[in-house]
Amino acid sequence: MNPSRRARRLLMQGGAALIAAPSLLRHARAADVPRFALGIASGQPHASGMVLWTRLTGAGLPERVPVHWELARDEGFADVVAQGDEHAEAGWSHSVHAEPAGLAPGRWYWYRFRALGQQSPVGRTRTAPAPDAAATLNFVITSCQRWDVGHYAAWRHVAQEQLDVVMFLGDYIYEYASKAGAVRQVEGGERVHTLDQYRARYATHKSDPALQAAHACAPWLLVWDDHEVDNDYANLQGQDLQPDFPAQRAAAYRAYWEHMPFPKSARPVGPDMRIVSRLDWGTLARIHLLDDRQYRDVQVCPKSGRGGSNTVTLKNCPEFMDEKRTLLGMEQEGWLADGWDLKRPWNLLAQQTLMARFSWTDPADGGGTYWTDGWDGYAPSRDRLLGTLVQRKVPGVVVLGGDVHSNYVADLKADFDDARSTVVASEFCGTSITSLSLPQSRIDAARAFNPHVRYGRGDQRGYMRFALDAKQLQMQVRVVDALDPASGVTTAARFTVDAATPGAVPS
Ligand SMILES: [Fe+2]
Repeated sequence: MNPSRRARRLLMQGGAALIAAPSLLRHARAADVPRFALGIASGQPHASGMVLWTRLTGAGLPERVPVHWELARDEGFADVVAQGDEHAEAGWSHSVHAEPAGLAPGRWYWYRFRALGQQSPVGRTRTAPAPDAAATLNFVITSCQRWDVGHYAAWRHVAQEQLDVVMFLGDYIYEYASKAGAVRQVEGGERVHTLDQYRARYATHKSDPALQAAHACAPWLLVWDDHEVDNDYANLQGQDLQPDFPAQRAAAYRAYWEHMPFPKSARPVGPDMRIVSRLDWGTLARIHLLDDRQYRDVQVCPKSGRGGSNTVTLKNCPEFMDEKRTLLGMEQEGWLADGWDLKRPWNLLAQQTLMARFSWTDPADGGGTYWTDGWDGYAPSRDRLLGTLVQRKVPGVVVLGGDVHSNYVADLKADFDDARSTVVASEFCGTSITSLSLPQSRIDAARAFNPHVRYGRGDQRGYMRFALDAKQLQMQVRVVDALDPASGVTTAARFTVDAATPGAVPS
């Protein structure tokens, strides 16, 4: 069937509302323009629903386009249990955020969209188990998918992992222009800072079929980091102290919401968007999702004349230890402290970066040397968080992170300088999909100063794959060659954590 006849037939199936609009018919006849070129996604699963996402693409889209969605209990859509209509609006980049409700807990569904005579690819998604139901949880964590330094082989393998949830922990895009000779080029020739530029950058990333497959395989839980806006930004301060940074953050957050499966209630207002949330996965785990960018104090001891990060010695920067400093903002610190689950065996803390203390020099010499953008730059904030875990005897805390483009497994301790200090939580900071790290020799040298770090590899790209039940967590370090789009995947290491005993053990 030729494209225009096929489009007309699909349109006929689409109902009277579509057929009645001649302008839409005209667009629909241009059915060779792909309208779902960025794929589909689902996210924010809970026990009775989730968010279904797509964004219409191609030239000549009307201001407002009706989009029909359906959700079925089977892949063939014989048993459709929910459907509805949304409007994709030009002002929100023709994105769609549908929110089916009243679904059965703890089961799989399939979903698709229809608009302008075309049908989207089909995605697979699920609800969370009922809060009182026994459950297991299979998931990956990963982050940092810089387009121009590698290929998305890791996503092809994530899509095959039989997961309940994909956790993406920040740097979905990078705002930089590509250098000459890059592995592949991003669009545009300058550093992204306007709404149209951010939108184009998301479209570039989302054009990748392997990433689309990973979105289609399971619902995602997402937090952002800095590169969705600007390298090393802090609160309302950009790295270059640019005076218009609040407008830049507003544009960046808007484009983020437009391209991610967040609910309508999270739609940003100006430069504000709430991504902080919490999810109970049956009786197994409570998952806390944090935002360490929007509410933080600015970094201590920056390089002269600019904002952003630095690497400095504690003795030269006593501000490090200012008790008032916070990475999460005091309100979010309080929200987290009040929301630890004392009954479920596991508390998973999905956030942006490495929490374990990581000194680049011997702490015996002047207190050590630290990167100011991570938790080390906000040590009093970390002390309060870990102190609460000890005080309230919070069970099964597993801190999950990204940002540093390296795989780290660490013991989080009440006192990192005391080898006998109690281990209060287990940390898995996962590597990047593509983004590059430091030479391995530097990480190896620094590990001598940080014995609580059990594993540290900057030369691995990929993801960490977790299998969680009420007694044990099992983690595999899954590694690809990001320079080879056809790369296979290997398991480079395995660790386990017993629910009753914090700290990861090689297995
Ligand atoms: Fe990154």
